[in-house]
Amino acid sequence: MELLAKKNVLIIGATGGIGEESTKLIKNNQANVFITGRDQKKLDQVAKEYEIPADQVFKLDIVNAKQVQEVADKIHAKIEKLDILVNAAGIGILKPIGSLTAEDFSKVIDVNLKGTFNLLTSFLPPMKSAKKGLIINIPGVLGKTPMAGAAAYAASKYGVNGMLKSVREELRRTEVRITNLYLGGVDSPFWDNIDMKVNRDKFITAREAGRAVWFLCQQPSSGVVSEMVIQPFNHQAI
Ligand SMILES: NC(=O)c1ccc[n+]([C@@H]2O[C@H](COP(=O)([O-])OP(=O)(O)OC[C@H]3O[C@@H](n4cnc5c(N)ncnc54)[C@H](OP(=O)(O)O)[C@@H]3O)[C@@H](O)[C@H]2O)c1
Repeated sequence: MELLAKKNVLIIGATGGIGEESTKLIKNNQANVFITGRDQKKLDQVAKEYEIPADQVFKLDIVNAKQVQEVADKIHAKIEKLDILVNAAGIGILKPIGSLTAEDFSKVIDVNLKGTFNLLTSFLPPMKSAKKGLIINIPGVLGKTPMAGAAAYAASKYGVNGMLKSVREELRRTEVRITNLYLGGVDSPFWDNIDMKVNRDKFITAREAGRAVWFLCQQPSSGVVSEMVIQPFNHQAI
């Protein structure tokens, strides 16, 4: 297992349910943590609670490629190399195709798919040069299996899955690892504005999902955990 102490770790979406829980555990292991989020109030709260220095905290919309590059430049000016990038940012619009608007569709694709592309564009090249690094993404179970009402979301997450697996093929001569975490339903603020009948009390807790990310950050140094699947007992889709 790789130890997290002194590792440079960036958590994108540290203001979210899974991102915050991951931040807490990774910081507890004495990693040098950088965080991002869009909600300034929540970002300040997470930074304060886990004692993240102010110059390692960034308000960031991952849809904005210029902003992503600026954050990458600031981080790379401060440290020799980023060891781990955790992408825990994403949105869910879950509606039947008949009520899904073009705006809904574009929004989901922009954040989940294009946002992930923007992160790769800015953070992968230094890892490729160093021939070392770890990128953890959360395509979720809906990145490899369909669900009624998930046309836009699954399109974005299948896209993330395909994109990351293709990039992985380009990294074979390096020790840059791409790890995909396929989670089923996680009880987090993700579901707060989703109008769908779900059993949140039967979901995986955000804390357990954060523990999975934390575990994946410490995967064996001689190999790669290319994927992990965790699903609620009552909804095992794959
Ligand atoms: N919850 C689930 O059931 C579930 C299952 C499988 C996979 N996932 C995936 O896991 C990831 C984390 O989900 P979660 O459950 O922790 O959701 P969450 O609690 O809603 O958190 C989402 C995070 O994404 C950030 N975010 C949203 N849009 C962004 C943008 N344009 N630019 C930058 N950051 C943005 C949010 O920032 P602000 O709050 O600051 O705006 C927040 O930090 C997502 O990719 C999600 O698709 C979730």
